[in-house]
Amino acid sequence: MKCVDDFRLVLGGKEYVPIVIGGMGVDISTAKLALEAARLGGIGHISDAMYMDVADRYFGTGYTETKARQYKKYIPVHDKSDVLFDLAVVEEATKRQVADVMERKRGDGMIFINCMEKLTMNDARATLRTRLSAAMDAGIDGITLAAGLHQNTLKLIEDHPRFRDVKIGIIVSSHRALQIFLRRSAKLNRLPDYVVVEGPLAGGHLGFGLDWAKYDLRTIVKDVNRFQEKEGLSIPVIAGGGIFTGSDAVSFLEDGASAVQVATRFAVTKESGLPDHVKQEYFKATEDDIEVNMASPTGYPMRMLKKSPALWAGVQPSCEAFGYLLDNGTCPYLKEYYQALEGNPDSRQMVKTQKVCLCTHMRNHYVWTCGHYAYRLKDTTYKLADGTYLLPTAEQVFRDYQFSKDNQIALPELPVPPFKG
Ligand SMILES: Cc1cc2nc3c(=O)[nH]c(=O)nc-3n(C[C@H](O)[C@H](O)[C@H](O)COP(=O)(O)O)c2cc1C
Repeated sequence: MKCVDDFRLVLGGKEYVPIVIGGMGVDISTAKLALEAARLGGIGHISDAMYMDVADRYFGTGYTETKARQYKKYIPVHDKSDVLFDLAVVEEATKRQVADVMERKRGDGMIFINCMEKLTMNDARATLRTRLSAAMDAGIDGITLAAGLHQNTLKLIEDHPRFRDVKIGIIVSSHRALQIFLRRSAKLNRLPDYVVVEGPLAGGHLGFGLDWAKYDLRTIVKDVNRFQEKEGLSIPVIAGGGIFTGSDAVSFLEDGASAVQVATRFAVTKESGLPDHVKQEYFKATEDDIEVNMASPTGYPMRMLKKSPALWAGVQPSCEAFGYLLDNGTCPYLKEYYQALEGNPDSRQMVKTQKVCLCTHMRNHYVWTCGHYAYRLKDTTYKLADGTYLLPTAEQVFRDYQFSKDNQIALPELPVPPFKG
């Protein structure tokens, strides 16, 4: 029986261990996690979601506070059209973080950045152009276009000197979405270097409706490859969503995928940016504790633990400080919040809404998004005497995907208890 290490992903003439750690915003796929993937010969993602706020935490910058102060007078104003990001700041924050991670990169792997189109930042085109250009300026190896069809994205950066050398890929959930993207990319004579095919069992936002259970990753991967064959294309396909063991990965590599994209198992590693108590909630989860709901203001379904505090903690929006999902001065949460407030003017914090304030709640780790198989995480480690689960390192999980066979999962090494003489 084969293991993942028997395969290689070939990109730009170089070979990589075919394991890609998917982007997990906000700062769940940390630089530390991505660096481990690269060190071990695979590909790691950072995510540029809420990058000004993330920079503030790592580098002590005051981008968020400055913006909040600048736009304070808009707090009572419902139309936030004038609450804009300073593009110079977006550029500086992105360059700072990308340059930092690229300087620290060791090993033969690569580091990519996950850029979501749905992060409209109240000026979708200009902010996306700035984010992508700054990441390329700072030396990122590759860009994964996510959460959107990205019909106009390549055009935004076609004049960048690295446009043809940086690796560019897109996440799709059907061959039709790929087809739409390819029509635009053909006009610029710039095919994607890889395509991530994400199935309905993934974490984060899903590229399906609430009927997600009718679809399956293997069928979509085959469909995408059949489409490529018809079109005379051979773009490497990276399959993701519900690939939980090395053997799962091997079955996709044997079925036409060039690599796998995995995330949920890395969300609970020591290097992940989730707080430790949230990682424990992931380990404790049962199948019944996980749902796909429409709480995200992006309009995409999202999978998360039902216990996610965001689902019951109504919050006053902070678009002046954050505003990453503002589009033309508003966001679906903001609209609902104001409506709910009209009927309940004395309760600014706890108004009940269908949508959640994704900026505030993702930032505070109150949205516990996870893949479908998060309920199996408890089988990947030890439960300790105090009832908590031992956090594996990213290297342990990566090596398990790379070398395990027969659907086995290698448990992390138990820490050696201190010698008492
Ligand atoms: C905690 C978490 C956060 C995620 N955030 C993002 C994100 O910000 N952008 C994105 O494109 N995908 C996101 N994803 C999807 C992953 O990158 C990945 O493609 C998918 O979850 C792989 O499936 P698996 O989790 O079953 O391994 C997220 C997944 C998880 C588990």
